[in-house]
Amino acid sequence: MKVNYADIVISAASKKQYPKAPIPEIALAGRSNVGKSSFINKMIQRKNLARTSSKPGKTQTLNFYIINDLFHFVDVPGYGYAKVSKKERAKWGEMMEEYFSEREQLRATALIIDSRHKPTEDDVIMYNYLKHFGLPVMVIATKLDKLKKSQKHKQLKTIQEVLEMEEEDTLIPFSSETGEGKELAWKTMLAHLNM
Ligand code: GTP
Ligand code: MG
Repeated sequence: MKVNYADIVISAASKKQYPKAPIPEIALAGRSNVGKSSFINKMIQRKNLARTSSKPGKTQTLNFYIINDLFHFVDVPGYGYAKVSKKERAKWGEMMEEYFSEREQLRATALIIDSRHKPTEDDVIMYNYLKHFGLPVMVIATKLDKLKKSQKHKQLKTIQEVLEMEEEDTLIPFSSETGEGKELAWKTMLAHLNM
């Protein structure tokens, strides 16, 4: 897929601010600092349109990006960051529920997982949460560049097993450093978008 145009539409804190245009969407989910924003940037070949940071908790709102006037990427705040108050956590939960339960044009999600580690408890909860909304989940095993070649197969197998991934869901080995997995990610996304 050649991306000719990509821009931020809005950083939304609540439903009222979601874009009204009825175009299909793919939402990202994943642990704080796992590489969600980097995934978007790599997919659309932009250095820092989706803002990345080495500090966790950078993305705090639902950030809608428009791609080629065809679909939205929605960058979602991460979970599992320890230094978050109870109040902030509750607000995050409400924001997730409001979006995932009601957004009609949401076609699929990309759950970003760190390929170096076994999925965390939060990763498993998030996978099941997304499935409970009936959404297809592309599991993006990112930071693959940090793994030795000999470890890759085993790590990918562990991710698939720990998440108990369903048949319809695709596991995509990925690296935002090298661009590995980009083609499979595009192919899978376009299929979910019916494009
Ligand atoms: P929050 O918005 O805080 O939830 O983080 P995020 O999930 O959007 O992560 P972000 O894309 O900001 O990346 C976090 C850090 O991981 C940055 O320092 C990135 O450069 C690094 N990173 C992301 N993807 C990769 C990857 O594939 N390989 C390597 N080596 N580093 C990566
Ligand atoms: Mg981010």
